[in-house]
Amino acid sequence: LLFEKNRSEKSMMVGTTDELRERAAFIRAAIERNAEVSASTRTGKTSEFWQTVFQDRPNFPDLNEVMTFRRSGFGYGIGDDRLGDIEREKRVDAQRYHIFESMVPKEFVASLPEAIFGAPMLFEMHGLTRSVSFFINAYTTYRVLEMVRRHGKRGPLRIAEIGPGWGACVHQLHSAAEVDSYLMIDLPENLYLSTLYLSAALPQRKLQFVDVEGDSISHIETGSIAACLPGAVSRIDAKFDLVLNSFSLQEMALDSVKAYIEWVDNHLSDDGIFVSLNSHGKAGVRQPSDYGYDRFHLYEFGVFRTKPQGYFNTIPYEAVLGRRKGRSPDYPSTFLNALGCLMQLGLDEDLVPLSRGLITGNLTDQDAALLLIFDRVFSAGAPKDKAALLREAEALDRSAIAPFVAAQVALIGNDNAACRSKLEESITRGLSGFARLRADVLLAAMQKRGPKTLPVCDGFDATFAYPEVGSALATGNLSSIIDHIRRVIMAPKVR
Ligand SMILES: C[S@@+](CC[C@H](N)C(=O)[O-])C[C@H]1O[C@@H](n2cnc3c(N)ncnc32)[C@H](O)[C@@H]1O
Repeated sequence: LLFEKNRSEKSMMVGTTDELRERAAFIRAAIERNAEVSASTRTGKTSEFWQTVFQDRPNFPDLNEVMTFRRSGFGYGIGDDRLGDIEREKRVDAQRYHIFESMVPKEFVASLPEAIFGAPMLFEMHGLTRSVSFFINAYTTYRVLEMVRRHGKRGPLRIAEIGPGWGACVHQLHSAAEVDSYLMIDLPENLYLSTLYLSAALPQRKLQFVDVEGDSISHIETGSIAACLPGAVSRIDAKFDLVLNSFSLQEMALDSVKAYIEWVDNHLSDDGIFVSLNSHGKAGVRQPSDYGYDRFHLYEFGVFRTKPQGYFNTIPYEAVLGRRKGRSPDYPSTFLNALGCLMQLGLDEDLVPLSRGLITGNLTDQDAALLLIFDRVFSAGAPKDKAALLREAEALDRSAIAPFVAAQVALIGNDNAACRSKLEESITRGLSGFARLRADVLLAAMQKRGPKTLPVCDGFDATFAYPEVGSALATGNLSSIIDHIRRVIMAPKVR
């Protein structure tokens, strides 16, 4: 079903109120007609996680509300937080800019226009006027394009995105890449927002709605954005050069994740890539191997954001996958689990040799043994069993990883002296990235050195970016840090 734009020769104006009313009615009717059937499918289930978000926020804004949805509660859970007052908004935005500005080039963000539909909250930061949610999404777009450049197809892309939120990456990818067609799959409440946003932001694209029931669809029309509820994916028989999922499989029930992974496996073109930016431990996926990435060829498996949005946030892994090839190695669950769990502690650069070994199938015997031990560290129940396993790891590992993990286990076992000496050892061995910041924070907090003593590395001021760090350093109270490490390091069944 196609929403034909009703723009006469006389009116060249883009985005009239009549258009908005017609479009909203079109999308609303399409969603209402399909929602019940979609919700009864494996992909269409609203997870408990999302049920809570939808109960907690208003949905299906009317025409007045939708024009400002990006600064009200409607966008909660998909990008724009509800901070309440403008001063607080400005402060939190500045903190987030500070985190992301070191990851994404400012010129790249400046090259992407942001639509004013939805009335985003805007503060000029370093000469750039973009909402912070747009800025954060620009990093996703930047990495996705880098992955396409490294592993994907040249030329126009047929893209499918599962869970596009308010549609930021859809919009940005249209600005920064050659897009043949774009399929977006989302739950009713969010699909309503993204389709309205995109029909205002990308008026030159045809907006289509794919019903859940009907014949199979072998092709998404060139130049169009096709929107559908999750139940419609079984109708789609087209191939895609890029499938994107950022932070949404991690919020679904496990059965929905499995259904989507099967779908992606069946719908990637021969040289297509699937970029999955997700973590575990939030909803149905309890451990990295639950995603079933081993059915694909794995091009990349590393940390997605070298600095997470919040100090205690889960850390998504950047998994870039393609169709399995004759030369694709096996990717044992134990290795994927060990790496994904190590990432949650803040380790990134230090893991690169292990990740490389995994994805190329060239892990040394010693590194394979090490990963097996780390996997057992994360699945062992008692801290004393973890500590015993870590002694085995330390006997094998000359890198910073084993002492850094041992320090975390010592901390949750209340052995601050051992924690301190293991952290110092890991630093001597060249601990880097976010893990290094975490080690510095922990050492400074244990010694009650105060917030001013934390070094500003490469212009990054962690006490400004992460208020949690400032308060742990000011008080010397480690309880939130210990709670976080306990959550990360305990086995899923014990957690
Ligand atoms: C945290 S938001 C992420 C939005 C966006 N991808 C981003 O990177 O900011 C998760 C998205 O996944 C969507 N989602 C949740 N369950 C889904 C399901 N079963 N099928 C499709 N999308 C789903 C949500 O509606 C939401 O749009």
